[in-house]
Amino acid sequence: MCALRTTTASRSLDRPDADPTAEHPASAPARPRRRLPRWSELKPLVQLEPVDVRPGRRRLQRAATVTDLREAAARRVPRPVFEFVDGGAEAEITQRRARAAFEGLEFRPRMLGGVDGVDTSTSLFGQQLSLPLVLGPTGFCRLVQHEGETAVARAAGAAGIPFALTTMGTVSIEDVAAAGGAGGNHWFQLYVLRDRGLTRELVQRAKAAGYGALVVTVDTAVIGQRLRDVRNGFSIPPRLTPRALVDIAARPAWWANLLTTAPLGFATIPAGQPEAHGAFIDNAFDPTISYRDLETLREMWDGPLIIKGVQRVDDAVRAADAGADGIVLSAHGGRQLDRSPVPLELLPQVTEAVGDRLDILLDSGVRSGADVAAAVALGARACLVGRPYLYGLMAGGQAGVEKTIQIFRDELRRTMSLLGCSTVGDLTPDLVRLNSHPPLAP
Ligand SMILES: Cc1cc2nc3c(=O)[nH]c(=O)nc-3n(C[C@H](O)[C@H](O)[C@H](O)COP(=O)(O)O)c2cc1C
Repeated sequence: MCALRTTTASRSLDRPDADPTAEHPASAPARPRRRLPRWSELKPLVQLEPVDVRPGRRRLQRAATVTDLREAAARRVPRPVFEFVDGGAEAEITQRRARAAFEGLEFRPRMLGGVDGVDTSTSLFGQQLSLPLVLGPTGFCRLVQHEGETAVARAAGAAGIPFALTTMGTVSIEDVAAAGGAGGNHWFQLYVLRDRGLTRELVQRAKAAGYGALVVTVDTAVIGQRLRDVRNGFSIPPRLTPRALVDIAARPAWWANLLTTAPLGFATIPAGQPEAHGAFIDNAFDPTISYRDLETLREMWDGPLIIKGVQRVDDAVRAADAGADGIVLSAHGGRQLDRSPVPLELLPQVTEAVGDRLDILLDSGVRSGADVAAAVALGARACLVGRPYLYGLMAGGQAGVEKTIQIFRDELRRTMSLLGCSTVGDLTPDLVRLNSHPPLAP
């Protein structure tokens, strides 16, 4: 029927004077006859689900990607808070390059492999993970949403993946451990402080609270220059400037939660009044941390020891020599040294050099389950994410973090299926080619 119509049309184009209906009167399409639908036909189409009227919930329910969550987050919190999370250091070149590396890769799927059903689970440092994803350490979670780390730990625990609590946490080591629930096997992220006594105390508290791994971040000799924060006049806690007062009218729920819950402060380290936090951070981290410190930590911590922020092959080798069980190839999400190496591009060389000596993890720019699949294929045992779950947290608290994990899980499952992989172990380097395509215009 379609072919007949095309032929008729092209004939009439050839001979504009010709009357096609005269040539083929029987081919003129009959007008559909109208009738009233029966209730039995309408009934299956009617969907009267209860509408969730809580602010932002519909947007959260409809979010299908991390980008959707990011948009939902931007509506829920004051702009300086959103940009504190969303932004990077200096000109944000590292942040963009980290994303571009994922966008520029090409998958080489295997066909006709007979894959029916996908298992995304994996094991890491003796833990069973429902997917190769870890919610990485991020400071000041209670700033972005009042439940903060408690909500994140609950969501991770329920999903069967670890959450790494930072030294800069706004919920205590003990409370986060309790919030993880039975499924919670969380990690503690340590900044080595000038005060070595306090550093030791933190490690001991993490051990006593049952944390499953110690993550030592080594890329933060000083805090990176986050220009969006400078330009926004960002402060922790936020100041009640005239602009903030206008914002209160636009986002009353966020402000009400901030002002009617416990004052925002570090819950893990004694930093005095919140106003003193900036100065505390500037002075607290020890920029002289060395491989000898790693050896000391190795003696203090008998569980898995992970070095976060490795950016060179020779440092990966030295971390293995110092007795680390794992490393995170990380550019700190582009928040520290700008124009630092792109972790995904570094991954194949590091896997080759130390892949048989320790477990390699990766973060910075991971935004989908397909990104996780690519990193795992190239040698990572799992990926950490920072901003993706913070977007979820801002958009909808614990439910938002759960949604983030669900999005990653669905995307990973679908990608593995399309790649012809039924298990995480089937993800092998031949499935990915890096730097295959120039970035697409947004
Ligand atoms: C708001 C924010 C706070 C962070 N705080 C810490 C921290 O306290 N300790 C740390 O090791 N990394 C911290 N990071 C870095 C993350 O652990 C992770 O390396 C990074 O977010 C990964 O990049 P992504 O955001 O593109 O996923 C932070 C990241 C963000 C976005």
